[in-house]
Amino acid sequence: MEHFVCEQTELMERKPVYISVEGMDIGVVLIKNQIHAIENNCPHAEGPVCLGDISNRVRMRLDENKMSLGEYASEDEVNMVCPWHGLEFDIASGTCTADSRFKLHKFQTVVREGKIYVSV
Ligand code: FES
Repeated sequence: MEHFVCEQTELMERKPVYISVEGMDIGVVLIKNQIHAIENNCPHAEGPVCLGDISNRVRMRLDENKMSLGEYASEDEVNMVCPWHGLEFDIASGTCTADSRFKLHKFQTVVREGKIYVSV
């Protein structure tokens, strides 16, 4: 069933909008023109994951001997960081970057006539 989230013009980059539907809190966030709807319930210990920071994933450059050349922020990978224990989740896939057993619960979204809806 589809639930209205907000007008498309109201959703700002990396600024989640929250809705409650069917007993769940869902954070809806815009990342590089992609809309992600995520249950605000961390798979680790049920923390409010959508209230955490949203940041580019930090990667390390290595030379041919696997020695560090320093860190950089990935342009393509964006993580959500749970505020309770700091686990990071790749927003696109929902998978925890440290432990793939933990995965965010995501929902389909659709934009129709300038309005965003989430399917639950
Ligand atoms: S509850 Fe989210 S990292 Fe522990």
